[in-house]
Amino acid sequence: MSHDVYKCKVISKKEIAPNIIDVTVESKEIASCAKAGQFLHVKCGDDISMPLRRPISICDADGDKLRFIFEVKGRGTKNLLLIDDEIDIMGPLGTPFTIDNDKYKNPAVIGGGIGTYPLYKLTKELNNPTVYLGFRSKAQVTLEDEFNSVCDMTVVATDDGSYGYNGYAIDLLKGKIQNDVVDIIYACGPKPMLKAVKELAEANNIPCQVSLEERMGCGIGACLTCSCETKTEGTWKYKRVCKNGPVFWSTEVVL
Ligand SMILES: Cc1cc2nc3c(=O)[nH]c(=O)nc-3n(C[C@H](O)[C@H](O)[C@H](O)COP(=O)(O)OP(=O)(O)OC[C@H]3O[C@@H](n4cnc5c(N)ncnc54)[C@H](O)[C@@H]3O)c2cc1C
Ligand code: FES
Repeated sequence: MSHDVYKCKVISKKEIAPNIIDVTVESKEIASCAKAGQFLHVKCGDDISMPLRRPISICDADGDKLRFIFEVKGRGTKNLLLIDDEIDIMGPLGTPFTIDNDKYKNPAVIGGGIGTYPLYKLTKELNNPTVYLGFRSKAQVTLEDEFNSVCDMTVVATDDGSYGYNGYAIDLLKGKIQNDVVDIIYACGPKPMLKAVKELAEANNIPCQVSLEERMGCGIGACLTCSCETKTEGTWKYKRVCKNGPVFWSTEVVL
């Protein structure tokens, strides 16, 4: 984890779905040590009324290239959309996914919406996982071909059935667990999806890592804005999503 801040040159920026922006910047410092599941704390302009950075996951890191994908939502990301030359980035931050390809030979990866983006780097590094990606509808489906090119099987589900499987990605994962061996699950997405994945994993005694999203202030463990309830060795306590997470074992967290 690095609290260092870098001015990163924008190499490419394109809209890959409505309001979904795919950005690659140059940053050897961050890209060379970035791990799957970590995030960047991104400055969204020099405006004095915009002091807080915004957390955005690392989608990929290769050589000196660092990629992240964000949805344009509120003031911060609207500002970020306007920056074309250099982006001020702190990172990489947070606790990454645990990858142990000797121990886990049959991983499954499940993501929903913008939660699919941090799973791309993870998928590249795992032992041929099966990947389930859920989106609201066809217009939001992104990176399917890229996921497909780095793993055995990528299955897309849409809530409205306009593309791929008609329903939730977790239904596909349930079917996989019933018929096949899955020895670890990695998940990132909306809270209801994470809650369902946690329950499914724990009911089947499958280790599971979930990546959480909380509102953040400092991003480095100092302000407690991002606290979440956790349980370690039978004791409940609050942990910081920015520092102890965003990735946790599902058995640790209360969803
Ligand atoms: C670890 C982590 C990784 C993330 N990765 C991605 C990603 O890869 N792609 C992506 O599109 N989005 C991602 N998000 C969500 C993203 O941070 C929010 O969408 C963004 O902060 C919204 O800022 P805004 O100013 O546009 O919206 P506003 O709603 O105007 O934000 C106002 C305030 O709320 C905070 N905030 C609002 N929504 C969230 C949220 N969901 N999570 C955390 N803080 C929030 C902002 O930091 C800001 O302080 C991630 C969030 C976290 C915590
Ligand atoms: S955002 Fe400040 S402690 Fe996590």
